[in-house]
Amino acid sequence: MNFELHTFALSTAAKEKCDAQIILVSASFKPAKDALSVLVAQTLKAGDFETKVGKTLLIYRPAGLASSRVVLLGIGEGSAKEVRKAVATAVAAVKSDKIKTLHLGFTTEPQTGAVRAAVLAVAEASYVYTSTKSKPEGRQLQSISVGVANVAGSQAAFAEAVAFVGGIEFAKEWANRPANHATPTLLAQAAKSLAKHARIKCEVLGPKQVAKLGMGSFLAVAQGSDEPLQFIVLHYNGAAQTVAPTVLVGKGITFDSGGISIKPAAEMDEMKFDMSGAASVLGVFKALADLKPKINVVGLIPACENLINGRAVKPGDVVTSMSGQTIEILNTDAEGRLVLCDALTYAERFKPRAVVDIATLTGACVVALGAVRSGLFSSNEELAAALLSSGESSLDLCWRLPLDDEYAEGLKTNFADVANVAGRAGGAVTAAKFLQRFTAKFPWAHLDIAGTAWKSGAAKGATGRPVALLLDYLLQSPKTK
Ligand code: BES
Ligand code: MN
Ligand code: ZN
Repeated sequence: MNFELHTFALSTAAKEKCDAQIILVSASFKPAKDALSVLVAQTLKAGDFETKVGKTLLIYRPAGLASSRVVLLGIGEGSAKEVRKAVATAVAAVKSDKIKTLHLGFTTEPQTGAVRAAVLAVAEASYVYTSTKSKPEGRQLQSISVGVANVAGSQAAFAEAVAFVGGIEFAKEWANRPANHATPTLLAQAAKSLAKHARIKCEVLGPKQVAKLGMGSFLAVAQGSDEPLQFIVLHYNGAAQTVAPTVLVGKGITFDSGGISIKPAAEMDEMKFDMSGAASVLGVFKALADLKPKINVVGLIPACENLINGRAVKPGDVVTSMSGQTIEILNTDAEGRLVLCDALTYAERFKPRAVVDIATLTGACVVALGAVRSGLFSSNEELAAALLSSGESSLDLCWRLPLDDEYAEGLKTNFADVANVAGRAGGAVTAAKFLQRFTAKFPWAHLDIAGTAWKSGAAKGATGRPVALLLDYLLQSPKTK
C-alpha cells in the first residue's frame, strides 16, 4: 500500500482525486466560507450528521467535486482513540473493490497520536491475508493519502505510523501462516531476510548449538517433534556498541498441541498463533530497519513445535535449564515458560538495560483480561511505568498484574528446584513467577499476549499486537548520538 501525507483544507477538497474521500469532523469544527464547509455546517445544523464518534454521512457525486464518494465522519473530540474507532467504522463502510484510492482529510488540527491512529486504523481495516490462497485476492486499497492543514507538524508522526504498519503487518503475516507454512526453520528464514537491512544482523542456532549451551529446558519441549528447533538471535545496531541494548524475547512455539498433556481438539488450530510473540519481535525489527532509531536492540526467539512422538517429554520428567536450575515438567502444555526461561538466561550475556519477553503464555490471562489489554508483569517500577504508558499512547493497551512471592508457593516440588506449573488459581501470575526466577540479572518485564495476539470467530486472525506498544516503548528509550 502506498502512503502519502499532504496539505488539506475543505476549501481545496473539491480537487482531491480519489475513489473515496473521508472527511474527519470533530466537535470543534469551525466552518470557513467555502462550499464544502458550508455544506458540512448545514448537515450538522439539520441534524443529518453529527460529530459523535463513528457517525457517517455518505454523499454521492457532490457537485463540483473530483471524488465521487464523500463520507463525512464524526470523530468526537478528536482524540487518537476516537479517531481510530471512527476511521475503522468508515473504512469498513466504504470498503469495496471500487475503492482503490482513499483520502482522509482532517478538518481540525489532529490531536497527539491522531494521525498515527488514523493510518493504523485504515491499514487494519483493509488488511487481507493471502499467502495460502490458491487465487489470492489481496487488499483492494492501493493508496491512502492523509490530509492535514499543517504538513510539517504531522510529517514525523506520519512516517512513524507508516513504519509501524510495516511492522504490524509483518507480524500478522507470520502469525497467520499455518504451522506447516511457518515451521521453526521458515521462521528463521524470515528473520534472516530482515538481515538484508544494513543495521540488522541475524544468527540462527540449531539443536546442536543449543544443546552445547545447556538449554535443557528448551530442548525438552522440542524433542517431541521432527522439526528441528531454531534459536533466532537478531541484532539491531543503531547506537555505539557500548550502549546497552534492550532485549526482546518472543515465544516461538510454531504449533502447540500441548504435548503428552494434549489439548482438546476444539479450536486446537488456533495454536498455530502460539508464535505470535516471536512474530511481534520480527515485526519490531522490520519497523526498526525503517525508523533507524539510535538505539541497540537484541531479539531472541526460541522456536520449536510442541508435539508428541516417542521421544516426547513426559509429565514428571526433570530437566536442567541453562541457568542450572532443574525443572519438573508436570504439564507438557506449559511449554512456553520452558523455552522462554533458557532464552532469558541467554539474554544475560548482552548486559541489557532491560529485557521484555512477549508470549501467548496462559489461557488464564485471557480469562483475566480478555482481548482488550495484554497482561504486564514486571519486577522493575520504571520499566513497568514505561510499558504501561507506551500501551496508552500507542492504543496497544496492557495492564499490570502482581508478582507477590506468595504466588510462587505452588511451584514448589519435592523432585526439582521448581515445577513448571502450579494450581489453576492465578495461572497467569504463577507463569510469570516461574519466568521471574530466570531474570535476576536485569530489569525485566513480561507481556502475556494470549488474549490480544489474535481474534477468534469469523474475524479469525492475528492482530499484530503488541508491535505498536513495543515500538512506542523503544522509541521513547534514551537515545544516544
Ligand atoms: N499457548 C498456551 C496458552 C494459550 C491458551 C494461549 C489459550 C491462547 C489461548 C500455553 O502454552 C498453554 O497451553 N498454557 C496452559 C498452561 C497450563 C497448563 C498451566 C494453559 O493456559 O492452559
Ligand atoms: Mn501449551
Ligand atoms: Zn503454548
